[in-house]
Amino acid sequence: MNNIQIIGPFRQIITLEGLPMKGVINDEEILIKENSYVVIEGDQITDVLSSLPKNTNEFTFHEISGDHILIPGLIDCHTHMVWGGNRAKDYSMRMAGKTYQEILATGGGIFDSVNKTQKANKSDLKESLTARVKCQLKDGITTMEVKSGYGLEPNHEVKLLEVVKEVSNEMTVDLVPTCLATHVSPKGWDKKEFVETVLKELLPQLKENGLSNRVDIFVEDNAFPIDLADYYLGKAKELGFDITVHADQFTTGGSELAVKHGALSADHLEASTDKEIEMLAASDVVAVALPGASIGLGMHFTPARKLLDAGASVAISTDWNPGSAPMGDLLVQASILGIYEKLSSAELLAGMTFRAAKALGLSDRGRLSAGYLADMIAFPVADYREIFYNQGRIKPNMVWKKGALL
Ligand code: NIG
Ligand code: FE
Repeated sequence: MNNIQIIGPFRQIITLEGLPMKGVINDEEILIKENSYVVIEGDQITDVLSSLPKNTNEFTFHEISGDHILIPGLIDCHTHMVWGGNRAKDYSMRMAGKTYQEILATGGGIFDSVNKTQKANKSDLKESLTARVKCQLKDGITTMEVKSGYGLEPNHEVKLLEVVKEVSNEMTVDLVPTCLATHVSPKGWDKKEFVETVLKELLPQLKENGLSNRVDIFVEDNAFPIDLADYYLGKAKELGFDITVHADQFTTGGSELAVKHGALSADHLEASTDKEIEMLAASDVVAVALPGASIGLGMHFTPARKLLDAGASVAISTDWNPGSAPMGDLLVQASILGIYEKLSSAELLAGMTFRAAKALGLSDRGRLSAGYLADMIAFPVADYREIFYNQGRIKPNMVWKKGALL
């Protein structure tokens, strides 16, 4: 028995081949392979064909009937999917007019989730993370980043990152773990002392146990001010960690640090001005828009159109978390961002695939061409534009992870 599979015909295969990593993309640039078949060997794509080869005994053929289109598996490059409890009361207060920053300042918000998560036992956290990962897979997300950040103190952060590793090992999915111990400083700690503790006691442990090689920090005066974040990122980099930053969500400063330290991505950017946009566009840092957080906080979107026009690479992610972004539906959120920010379908697709892969430092996924992982999703529609036209409501009905149909 060989391990070559041929799957098709698909009305359209949207390979995303040849589309640029940075800047504007028009829909006309998308190469559409009509009535085509994808060839997979093991976990990789080897070809896209316009007709079925004759030597049918040399491969396994999976026939697709009816209207279906095929695109790369989606990549959610920014989530906080491991948490305990919920923040429904915060959300109700926010709807009634209290701000996220006011709730945080009175010791609620992120601190409330930290309390609940620190108290949760490992098996409950595993169970809830597994349920969320299943949800994401159903939505067509085959690679997802997961941040810690509701543990804060080293022992609690280790517990969360162990949960991520165990769930990743048990499921057919890739979870990319990121240490966000520096989400806020735990109550009763001096911020500088806390940062030193993370650097000395937590990061070496994470490296040694293969729990994460990425760090994130929430740069904001009520979380970590610019100077301290600058110090932390420099030291984390020296320790060999990749960097991503919660940047310019309410005030600017974070994106400048992201550029200075050569971060893989700068995420949020709702408050970015032309200065930050230019800086990001001139760099290799991926700008990550998080429409779920804008929707969850009732605030304006990341200036995705301006970022793209300036020449930046823009990814789109859910930011799925119990506070600012409790929805966690990437397709719905990307569709909403698209219509408000005036993005093309091509820019939305790129932002959830190969550009999101770059934000995670991955170059083996996000397009459907030879040598890429066979992470693919099919939608029961005849044209790719129907995905966003349906505002994310139509979900994929087939999901393949590394060549395996889930
Ligand atoms: O990306 N702003 C900082 N962190 C998260 C929210 C965390 C929370 O509210 O629990 C975010 O929006
Ligand atoms: Fe976030």
